[in-house]
Amino acid sequence: MTAMAYDKQAASEIIARFDARGEMLVQILHAFIERFAWISEDAIRQLADELNLSRAEVHGVVSYYHDFRTTPPGKRIVKICQAEACQAMGSRELSAHAEKSLGIAMNASDADNTLEPVYCLGNCACSPAVMIDGKTFGRVSPQRFDDIVASSGDAN
Ligand code: FES
Repeated sequence: MTAMAYDKQAASEIIARFDARGEMLVQILHAFIERFAWISEDAIRQLADELNLSRAEVHGVVSYYHDFRTTPPGKRIVKICQAEACQAMGSRELSAHAEKSLGIAMNASDADNTLEPVYCLGNCACSPAVMIDGKTFGRVSPQRFDDIVASSGDAN
């Protein structure tokens, strides 16, 4: 996923789709992530203005939900499930391997990759599960992880 340049007009249109209702902030933020891939300071300022909220209120919601990243993502977004079933099948070790293999820490990005935790991908029967650019993979061993990454996208 490549971060789109922030477009104030497009942001206004998204906000208008939700009737500029402050109580729809979480849904609006999801729509912003879909459109821009991350929540910038410009976005927070505009959301606060157009939803009649304080910037602190918007910041509070953005920082509460791990889905709302506040830095631009890399070209490829890698999510590793950290919920119970996947933990029982080695997702912690897989995460450590992914950090080493991609050369970035969990919750960090470089130009090529973003590595993030996720809490259940609905694929518990095939733990541990990984999602790369929206596609879910099951029973991911460290070796399989490297193979999937190598064959997905153009980040490497
Ligand atoms: S616990 Fe990992 S997919 Fe459900």
